[in-house]
Amino acid sequence: MFTMKPIGFVRSAYTETKQIPKGPGTKHEAEGTLEIAPEFEPGLQDVEGFSHLFVTWVFNRAEGYELVGVPPTDDRPHGVFATRSPRRPNPIGLTVVEVLGRDGRNLRVKGIDMLDGTPILDIKPYMSSIPAEQLRLGWFAEAEARRSAKKTET
Ligand SMILES: C[S@@+](CC[C@H](N)C(=O)[O-])C[C@H]1O[C@@H](n2cnc3c(N)ncnc32)[C@H](O)[C@@H]1O
Repeated sequence: MFTMKPIGFVRSAYTETKQIPKGPGTKHEAEGTLEIAPEFEPGLQDVEGFSHLFVTWVFNRAEGYELVGVPPTDDRPHGVFATRSPRRPNPIGLTVVEVLGRDGRNLRVKGIDMLDGTPILDIKPYMSSIPAEQLRLGWFAEAEARRSAKKTET
């Protein structure tokens, strides 16, 4: 077992999960603040030099988990580890945000898909080294292809 302590909390306009856009083609453009606790502020030194950051956080308002379920982006079931479902055995979220600026221990970011008050576990610089042509998107790409085929039929 592990014990973790939040390094801070997300300040977001979203107070209910239904306010957060989801489903096919969703783009997360919402802005918000990562409010880091005073004791961790020195750890933010140089963070604003990166355009994007990985943020790991806790789905603190999710209950239980489902190992196989139908995500909002498909009509077929998939294993939880092949989805981004909040209902997972270890309820950890991962979001890539764009850095807009830093004001002391507050980082203003874009790309928020977390509720207000979400506990933040960690922040790391985003560095992508995998060329787009090497990425495989599994069931997600197949679901997209089925949706486009349906659209051209109608
Ligand atoms: C599909 S998850 C993806 C989150 C993250 N980008 C990831 O991949 O881990 C995003 C959804 O999590 C839910 N959510 C956001 N913050 C949450 C929280 N603190 N507790 C529980 N659910 C939350 C909202 O319903 C939101 O639409």
